[in-house]
Amino acid sequence: MKRRVFINRLGLGLLASSLPVAIAACQSDSSPPAATEGELVAVGTVADLDAAGVLASQNIQGNNLAVIRDPSAPESVIAVSAVCTHSGCTVPWDNAQGLFACPCHGGRFNPDGSVVSGPPQRPLTRFEATIDGEQVLVRL
Ligand code: FES
Repeated sequence: MKRRVFINRLGLGLLASSLPVAIAACQSDSSPPAATEGELVAVGTVADLDAAGVLASQNIQGNNLAVIRDPSAPESVIAVSAVCTHSGCTVPWDNAQGLFACPCHGGRFNPDGSVVSGPPQRPLTRFEATIDGEQVLVRL
């Protein structure tokens, strides 16, 4: 095989093998699946969650987290990073509006972390979360 033919075929092979990755990177992902690796860490009690409407902590193993009841399945919980994907402000949960509302530039996120409005282009990072007895656990 001539060198030029070999290089052309190699280039086509690399292009073909990277195409699925490029397509996946371009797809809009408004609500990424939660991480499924790492250890489950207790972040608070169900009683505290229900009393406040949110469990929020700025340092759970270095993570700034917010955990809420899933409005569409109240027996479940949703955990997200409370770090805004626009410029990194802490995004508090707004019980009255039922969304995460960033105080810095008006970014709004659904309970699942997907973007509602404002400058953020990416959803809040999701974490796997569950209730075990009286404890709320998040996989970190
Ligand atoms: S930092 Fe949240 S909208 Fe800008």
